[in-house]
Amino acid sequence: MNKFVFFLALFLIITEYSYSKEKYKIGFSQCTSADMWRKAMHREMIIELAFHPDLELTIKDAGDSNRNQISDIQEFLNEGIDLLIVSPNESDPVTPIVEEVFNSGIPVIVIDRNISSDAYTAYIGSDNYLIGKEAGSYAAKLLEGRGTIIEIRGLDGSSPAIDRSNGFRTSLQNYPDIEIVTSPSGKWNYSDSKVVMQNMIDENIDFDLVFAHNDVMAIAAHEICKKNQVSNKFFLGIDGLYGKDGGTEAVIEGKLNATFLYRTGGEEAIQIAHKILNGLPFDRENILETVVIDSNNAKILKLQTEQVQNLQGKIESQNDILDRQISKFNDQRTLLIVVLFLLGAIFILVVIIFRAFRNKKQANIKLEQQKKEIEKRNSEIIKQRDQIIEVSEKLKNATQTKLRFFTNISHEFRTPLTLIVGPLENMIHSKKIPVEFQNQINMMYRNSLRLLRMINQLMDFRKIENAKMKLHAGRYDLVSFVKEIQLSFTNLAENKKITLDFASTETEIQVWFDWDKLDKVIFNLLSNAFKFTPENGRISIQIKKTKPVVETIWQEEVVIEVRDNGKGISGKHLSRIFDRFYQVEKSQDFKGTGLGLSLSKEFIELHHGKIKVESTERKGTTFTIHLPLGDTHLTSEEKIETKLDSKPDTHEKPISDEIYIDQDQPSKVTTINLGHAAKPLILLVEDEKDVRTYVKESLKEHYTILEAKNGKEALSIIEEEEPDLIVSDIMMPEMDGLELTRTIKSDLKTCHIPVILLTAKASLEQKFEGLEEGADSYIPKPFNSKHLQIRVKKLLEIRKKMHERYKGQLFIEVDDDQISRMDRKFLNKVSNIVEQHLDKEELSVEELSQLIGLSRVHVYRKIKKLTGMSVSEFVRSVKLKQSLNLIKTSGKSISEIAYEVGFSSPSYFTRCFKKQFGISPSEFAKN
Ligand code: FRU
Repeated sequence: MNKFVFFLALFLIITEYSYSKEKYKIGFSQCTSADMWRKAMHREMIIELAFHPDLELTIKDAGDSNRNQISDIQEFLNEGIDLLIVSPNESDPVTPIVEEVFNSGIPVIVIDRNISSDAYTAYIGSDNYLIGKEAGSYAAKLLEGRGTIIEIRGLDGSSPAIDRSNGFRTSLQNYPDIEIVTSPSGKWNYSDSKVVMQNMIDENIDFDLVFAHNDVMAIAAHEICKKNQVSNKFFLGIDGLYGKDGGTEAVIEGKLNATFLYRTGGEEAIQIAHKILNGLPFDRENILETVVIDSNNAKILKLQTEQVQNLQGKIESQNDILDRQISKFNDQRTLLIVVLFLLGAIFILVVIIFRAFRNKKQANIKLEQQKKEIEKRNSEIIKQRDQIIEVSEKLKNATQTKLRFFTNISHEFRTPLTLIVGPLENMIHSKKIPVEFQNQINMMYRNSLRLLRMINQLMDFRKIENAKMKLHAGRYDLVSFVKEIQLSFTNLAENKKITLDFASTETEIQVWFDWDKLDKVIFNLLSNAFKFTPENGRISIQIKKTKPVVETIWQEEVVIEVRDNGKGISGKHLSRIFDRFYQVEKSQDFKGTGLGLSLSKEFIELHHGKIKVESTERKGTTFTIHLPLGDTHLTSEEKIETKLDSKPDTHEKPISDEIYIDQDQPSKVTTINLGHAAKPLILLVEDEKDVRTYVKESLKEHYTILEAKNGKEALSIIEEEEPDLIVSDIMMPEMDGLELTRTIKSDLKTCHIPVILLTAKASLEQKFEGLEEGADSYIPKPFNSKHLQIRVKKLLEIRKKMHERYKGQLFIEVDDDQISRMDRKFLNKVSNIVEQHLDKEELSVEELSQLIGLSRVHVYRKIKKLTGMSVSEFVRSVKLKQSLNLIKTSGKSISEIAYEVGFSSPSYFTRCFKKQFGISPSEFAKN
């Protein structure tokens, strides 16, 4: 269907194009169309044109005027024609314009009358000279060779008139008795001819025959003669037209004796025009046949012509019908095209609508699917959400239960702890404790206090959590309150060599506050400041009365500022410093529950106040507390009665006793006694002072102890000292124990030092991690001091045994697991070097260290630690071991071998050999 419509449309468009194709324009300049002959010519042309739809004919009638004809042709030229047909009025005047047309490239057909030059494409017409000649012969026959003739000529300048006259006269030259008495011009028309004939009758011109150049003029002459009763004359004409007033009819009616058929050539003119315009072959000169019509054939001709005319009429009516059909066809075709276009448009529209509909349907299906998917996902999400809510609810409950349990337990801890702290305090104050226990008792006291404080914080936190924390504000002097707390820190300040300032704008400021809570806050801030501030630092407390910056219901407020010039807190931690359980880093400085500052904030907010922090790294930290003055901001529930004498006088106590301070000496090396060479040297790396003390106490009897607070410190000590063993914690600031172990074990200079890792994290992974890094042993915390002592002892013994063992061994076995791979490689390398230099009596430490790529000291230390020998002893032992092989395999004499392995004399060799192996070389050779 689709294709059919398309091809039909294409066909119609093509036919429409061919029909509407530009037609050839033919201009026909006719000298006149007043007479029958010319009308007959036009009719012929029109009939012929019906067979040539590519031609379009325009006729311009010059009305027998040369001038008109010239301007008609000029017009054609201007309008633009494809071909000119011309029948000139007179030859000479019309010739130039015809030449112009011809020379401009437009084909020219000259019809009937000729021009005076050759400037034409084709000529159509009868041979007028021949017609004239035949007319002459016919006249001579009628006159039987004797008589007079009147010749009525056509227009003087027209070629048929000239040719016909010439032919006629030529023919009569053969008849001397025939005379042309006169030959006036009838100008081809009826009326002029009548006048001419009447004049001749009037002039009594004698004549027997009238020969007129056409039938119209001959009939006019006959009528004048008849009118003047001039009879028995012959009349001859030319043209032989059929029909009323035509020459043939005049012959039948007896008006003319004969006429000569002079065909119009209209049909031929159109045919030749078609050929020229379509590039088909054609004849240039087209001479039309002529025939005489007289009483012998006129009737037959009339009949024939009638028949022809009849047919022509039919053709014409056929043409009319055809034209109507064509126009109908054109209309229908146009209609069809319109309908087809409409159909096409409708079809396209339908396709578009169908597609849109289909797309919409598909989109709807997709949307529906997506909707379902989303719904499914939504329900999944809802399900997951419910699950999460459920899980989080469970978690919350579990956490709550745990916390409750924890709080309860903590609560339970409080009483026993208080019962420990109290007696300990008494013991310390009694000053009766034996010196050797003082340290330990102090440590117990400090740690019990710490534990108690943490438990208290936890209880406070639970209270806040459960919204059970209430403000019990009384009216007290804030200045003296803060001053008292400050005073309790003076001892600590002195011992830590920290300047602790106090300043207040007023001597007394009455403030409504909760004694216990504000005490905890100020205490916490000061403790923190002390933790952050290094020796020779400064901590200052400042109190001032100000107006609130933002609008509040109270008029005045008091600001407490605690400032230190310690290490400061970085930006990323600062924003979270008041978060619960937030610990800046796991360093000793920050040890605690992470609750202190969070609680402080809660407490200050209970006071309707604000706490802020500002800090710059390496510059210091400032905490600022804003508390409202007056009691307008407090409800009656938040206030308690305060009498002057009921003021609490307790404050939190900083953990700062003499002993505490004694112990917090800079840690680095406490007991370095190089003189104690007999005691093995142990480096103890531990960040927590108490643990360090504890370990030190348990080892100091048998070992000299070096101390370091972290891995970094430990490494710098190792650089200077030569520890025989390292005991290290894992979790430490700066550099942890694992990294320390890795560093020691991957350095040839230190890899031989045994390492015991000590840590609270007793997970298996940690243990493996530690061993992976090359640790020789691992002791989980809490540990028994005996356990540690045994482990230290064992490791040092292994080392010793190795020394013994080494003396008898030439090369260290590759699978010897008592010694690290790195050390094995080292010793084997040294042995190899010695072997290569066997002949040398003395291989110096310098040479050896150069060849190995280690410093002298390190080569010395390593060989000593690994083998228990000095470098020269070691070199000698290698040589001796080598000599064993030589004795066994070379067959050389002992003296030869002694020199070969680089001994200065065989006797010295024998002495050394015996010393090392307990047998003389000759005895060995015998065995
Ligand atoms: C018509 C006519 C004819 C004649 C011809 C000559 O105008 O006079 O009768 O044969 O012209 O050109």
